[in-house]
Amino acid sequence: MFNFKTHSRTMLLCSATATILALGPAIANSAEPVPNTPQLHQLTYSKVYISMLGTELLPIDDAPTGQGNNGHIPLGSPEDEESPLTFYAAKKVFDAVEDVADGLGPVYNAQACRECHQSPMSGGSSQVTVVRAGRMNNGKFVDHAGGSLIQDRAIHYSLQEQVQDGNDITALRLSLSILGDGFVEAVSDDTLLAIAAAQPADMRGEAVMVEVLEGSGIKRVGRFGWKSQHASLLSFAVDAYLNEMGITSPLMPDENTSNGKSVAAYDTVADPEEEASAQYPFGRDVHAFTNFMRSLKAPARNDATTQTQAIIDGQALFTQIGCSNCHTPAMVTSPPGTLLNGGTFTVTEALGNKRIRPFSDFLLHDIGTGDGIYQTGSAEARNKMRTAALWGLHTRARFMHDGLSLTLGNAIQRHQGQALSARKAFHQLTSDQQAKVLAFLRSL
Ligand code: HEC
Ligand code: HEC
Repeated sequence: MFNFKTHSRTMLLCSATATILALGPAIANSAEPVPNTPQLHQLTYSKVYISMLGTELLPIDDAPTGQGNNGHIPLGSPEDEESPLTFYAAKKVFDAVEDVADGLGPVYNAQACRECHQSPMSGGSSQVTVVRAGRMNNGKFVDHAGGSLIQDRAIHYSLQEQVQDGNDITALRLSLSILGDGFVEAVSDDTLLAIAAAQPADMRGEAVMVEVLEGSGIKRVGRFGWKSQHASLLSFAVDAYLNEMGITSPLMPDENTSNGKSVAAYDTVADPEEEASAQYPFGRDVHAFTNFMRSLKAPARNDATTQTQAIIDGQALFTQIGCSNCHTPAMVTSPPGTLLNGGTFTVTEALGNKRIRPFSDFLLHDIGTGDGIYQTGSAEARNKMRTAALWGLHTRARFMHDGLSLTLGNAIQRHQGQALSARKAFHQLTSDQQAKVLAFLRSL
């Protein structure tokens, strides 16, 4: 895992730290011994550092949580004009309502990123779901004509998409929160792969390698979207601008169709609607979305100041019954200066060497809720979903990828497949213990 020849001493220290931190909770919890590291079962994190390195380590700070700028780009002032350069200016682009003259549509889902990513602040989540559809043909998933994402709106009555007969695999996908995702992007592939390797075999997550659009063909472990279909926030921004808002940009210059039929007759703005420039090669708005998303703090705990005994006990039970095998409590980002996404993204001081507490491994699992839509990974990934990140849980009212669980109890009840043993263990707890697990979940 650690290559002494290619890492400087500092890099080695940091990547060792990141990996151990990621492994710690999973190992403490794992039913089977982890190859080469059996002694780690017994050790606390600080003892691991000392035994691994024989020296004191650089302190690892928690990523800042709450609303506002994490310092990845300068804050600027509310008077700033729309641009990618300051937090205020980039947020204006994320919030901006686009119109037909800006290139909106011809088929689209909403007019602004913020329409679906708004609560408790821009970049958060919402109750908005989007529709996907397709069908099986000789054992292989085939996208609905015009792409598996069905756009719910159009700029002309003749363009409205509808799921066509014969597409019997249909799914709803809830909008995801983006808070803290700059840190998630800065987590190394090695850390995510080590988490997968340390999981009990019957719970092991699938890490999918996905193309970084701006990274000239390079692949990274996917971590964003319900199918971990992207590894980079810039790639996600390009995809969302086209597929949610109908706005083309240099990396995705072609408009969507309406159920497979061309919309060119209604498309009044030349493609790509977001143009490349020397300063912003992927389009100015795409850079603004990316900068804004990378600058978001991680979600705040519900009641960070008063950790009641019930919450502390609840977390211990959550670990004991195996929930934390997939809902990974903590991991550490790559050091500042690390080049990611094919060299297009340098981890800043604000994002580097930070401990995050996402309660997700960002890997795909079959817990019996898979929506049947194929996007990335193995053929079985069709029936897998990404472990929902539980940070910020108290700010959401609908749960699971389809938003159809309206209570936490129902979300737990739906865990089958790879999560069956954990779900059963939850139901074997006394009602007092179950209440503590729920108190812990509500504290996130
Ligand atoms: C119509 C609603 C809608 C709009 C508008 C929208 N999104 Fe999303 N967003 C979603 C949904 C739904 C998902 C989950 C998609 C999936 O995985 O199937 C998502 C997921 C994401 C994610 C992944 C977050 C994570 O942690 O996995 C990012 C990043 C994102 N959107 C960025 C954007 C940006 C940038 C814009 C504006 C250009 C935008 N979105 C516009 C609905 C929307
Ligand atoms: C094998 C991996 C795995 C285990 C073990 C597991 N989960 Fe999950 N969990 C997932 C996946 C995957 C999802 C997303 C499923 C979906 O959206 O269809 C999820 C979703 C959730 C959600 C919904 C969160 C949201 O924002 O929508 C909650 C709550 C949750 N899990 C709690 C638990 C608890 C409590 C346990 C232990 C009893 C547990 N999980 C064990 C993989 C796991």
